[in-house]
Amino acid sequence: MKVAVVGATGMVGEVMLKVLEERKFPITELIPVASERSVGKIISYQGKEYSVVGLETAVSLRPDIALFSAGGGTSLEWAPKFAEVGTTVVDNSSAWRMDPTKKLVVPEINANVLTKEDKIIANPNCSTIQMVMALNPLHKAYKMKRVVVSTYQSVSGTGVKAVRQLENEIAGIEGEMAYPYPIGRNALPHCDVFEENGYTKEEMKLAKEPQKIMNDSSFSVSATAVRIPTAGGHSESVNVEFENDFDLSEVRQLLSETPGVVVQDNTDTNTYPMPIYAHNKDEVFVGRIRRDESQPNTLNMWIVADNLRKGAATNTIQIAEYLVEHHLV
Ligand SMILES: NC(=O)c1ccc[n+]([C@@H]2O[C@H](COP(=O)([O-])OP(=O)(O)OC[C@H]3O[C@@H](n4cnc5c(N)ncnc54)[C@H](OP(=O)(O)O)[C@@H]3O)[C@@H](O)[C@H]2O)c1
Repeated sequence: MKVAVVGATGMVGEVMLKVLEERKFPITELIPVASERSVGKIISYQGKEYSVVGLETAVSLRPDIALFSAGGGTSLEWAPKFAEVGTTVVDNSSAWRMDPTKKLVVPEINANVLTKEDKIIANPNCSTIQMVMALNPLHKAYKMKRVVVSTYQSVSGTGVKAVRQLENEIAGIEGEMAYPYPIGRNALPHCDVFEENGYTKEEMKLAKEPQKIMNDSSFSVSATAVRIPTAGGHSESVNVEFENDFDLSEVRQLLSETPGVVVQDNTDTNTYPMPIYAHNKDEVFVGRIRRDESQPNTLNMWIVADNLRKGAATNTIQIAEYLVEHHLV
């Protein structure tokens, strides 16, 4: 496969290159792509050096697959240009996720919707992916009515500029700010921009994307997204009300049997998911599984995953792997 990585110099792009290498994705030619600022910069992949190219050059090279993580504006403008020359684009931005003509895919849940005709495929939001990975098997078993989620999100979810802001604050250096306030020793109830309804875009992604991925609009999601000064992954406190009652040991069993999900749940040994353990891992970790004693058929749990891996790069590459394995590219 001739593979372009668009946004190769960014946080997600760098992890994308690492994951492609780790998973031995069948690359015959790698095309690292970034903005004009980075053209000519050297990227190393599998011990070989590659020079970063611009978008126009990348389109002219007609890759089989383009893995995009360069922001919504770049995707909106350039993904169709790649699609026109026959490239299949898997896009990490929010540009195409809610477009009814585009598929929104978490491979463990709905890769079977993909066809050869899908030339632009959307990767869901990072906090959505980890949440639906845990919710999907439980929804099948007990039927969800309503989900209330509060997130505790890593600065790596905002990109290189935000990680630098936190590092500068820790080192006492004044520098460029990615957020309107300091992030060190702080918690910002503000991920992405505010919308007219008072929610942030991130909160609305959590509210709307799960139904599309799970192809079921019978449940609703309410979200509060908070940025905290961690780097290794996003955490989520998730409260789920089901139509039907459940047995806690069966919930643990169902989650343990779900590919890509790991249960870390033992209060006797202080075992629960944390970003420092999820960092650099592809799995979604679930713990603090307990009954909500304030109302019937309701469950509380804590879900953690590395937002740059399963939340972005790994999920994207799993989609690409599915396309290759099923001869859809
Ligand atoms: N971070 C996460 O956890 C996460 C998770 C899921 C999805 N995403 C999405 O992935 C995308 C990238 O996020 P990130 O965190 O990796 O951001 P980032 O660290 O700021 O990196 C942005 C990348 O995009 C490139 N880029 C920016 N403008 C461009 C342009 N006009 N043309 C070509 N390339 C351009 C940058 O190239 P230069 O180095 O040349 O500027 C860089 O490689 C965003 O759409 C984001 O919403 C991020």
